[in-house]
Amino acid sequence: QEENTVSITVVGASGDLAKKKIFPALFALFYEDWLPKHFTVVGYARSKMSDQELRNMISMTLTCRIDQRENCSDKTEQFLKRCFYQSGQYNSEEGFCELDRKLTEKEAGKQPNRLFYLSIPPNIFVDVVRSASRTASSPGGWTRFIVEKPFGRDYESSGELTRSLKMYLEEEQIFRIDHYLGKELVENLSVLRFSNLVFQPLWSRDYIRNVQLIFSEDFGTEGRGGYFDNYGIIRDIMQNHLLQILALFAMETPVSLAAEDIRNEKVKVLRSMRKLKLEDVVVGQYKGHTRGGKSFPAYVDDPTVPNGSVTPTFAAAALFIDNARWDGVPFLMKAGKALHTRRAEIRVQFRRVPGNLYSRGNNVGGGTHLDMATNELVLRVQPDEAIYLKINNKVPGLGMRLDSSNLNLFYSERYHREIPDAYERLLLDAIEGERRLFIRSDELDAAWAIFTPVLRELEENRVAPELYPYGSRGPVGAHYLASKYNVRWGDIS
Ligand code: BG6
Repeated sequence: QEENTVSITVVGASGDLAKKKIFPALFALFYEDWLPKHFTVVGYARSKMSDQELRNMISMTLTCRIDQRENCSDKTEQFLKRCFYQSGQYNSEEGFCELDRKLTEKEAGKQPNRLFYLSIPPNIFVDVVRSASRTASSPGGWTRFIVEKPFGRDYESSGELTRSLKMYLEEEQIFRIDHYLGKELVENLSVLRFSNLVFQPLWSRDYIRNVQLIFSEDFGTEGRGGYFDNYGIIRDIMQNHLLQILALFAMETPVSLAAEDIRNEKVKVLRSMRKLKLEDVVVGQYKGHTRGGKSFPAYVDDPTVPNGSVTPTFAAAALFIDNARWDGVPFLMKAGKALHTRRAEIRVQFRRVPGNLYSRGNNVGGGTHLDMATNELVLRVQPDEAIYLKINNKVPGLGMRLDSSNLNLFYSERYHREIPDAYERLLLDAIEGERRLFIRSDELDAAWAIFTPVLRELEENRVAPELYPYGSRGPVGAHYLASKYNVRWGDIS
């Protein structure tokens, strides 16, 4: 039987994502022997470069978790020997024909499989897919394309992109990446939900008061203003990363762990969601700020951002799922750039204990005490991955005083091993044909359907964002939105 080989072509090889994420992830997989025995990595881009120049570029940016390990340099050498470069245009078949020749030569005598990673701007996705699929598809094995967001700007343009891609590819060949799905804690969400009896029965409107999905970064757009201004934080973070987490959080139990079973449940829950309304959204934009003698720029100071831009760099939203499990439970999202901290987390606030035995005014053991805090389960996606549960506990001593304490699972204490980068997991899955963590086209449609009307309203009316200082906790409007649903953001207590 013929041996298999995999060729991984990174289209847009000199771009930021390729340098920072894709090549380092491939190297980490290679280092830990996850890649197939026979593989080739080809960088494809417009500029002229030799194989050696590509190797130099890769080795200079091979900053990944493997850096400090023993025999790192031997492994680096071995890895770089498998890396090649091919220059060519994105919209002509010539370059891809050359690529095909190069790949065929490397694959000699083996069953060829080809993976293309499109790390390029969205306006050339279709050109590349057309040319590459026609001229450089695998002659006898599989051919797959990993596509990065943005998948369109709204429901219509996303649908159009899907239709164009499907002129050249089958849905099974398209791997739409949302790198948040490759994060360890997000993967663990289903394990936590479906394999712990203590959580499983609580996972509904009967016990959960609200769910919060929070993303914050402590830096601004820094050089990405040109891209960002076209999209804004709702498209950049909410419609994809946070909504994907929400879907995994709220979906019904899938029939099995097979990709189609999971994606069927995700699409169902997304289709049960109400379209987001303008009154349930708060938008903000960061303004310049001076702190400790250092000044931080406003979003509109970024030279690539058009003057007078009203693009939100912060948004908070209240979403609802109209099904039996989640009826009436607010799912609050908050996402922002240039805030006071970098963090992504999921917070589940449970209902109050009925009966109120330990509430204010109840004299127990000679002392009165304040209302009990409600239980809260927190999954900290990053940094410092952790899961913790807030419970009420008696403060030791002769009196009766309650205290809210945490049952903690800190990954760094419990597991003495590195957590792989999200791109490692996703690249490996794409190579292995595992589609569980990739977005199917009907999921994407359902996701856009939720956000498109409000995006349109915000943009047509040029709704002015609430300004917040760089490095602050964001606009106060987010608190008003939460209090409308009797919710307090858990990350500020
Ligand atoms: C990307 C967004 O998808 O995710 C960026 O386009 C954002 O704006 C990034 O900074 C955050 O990813 P991570 O993995 O660093 O949290």
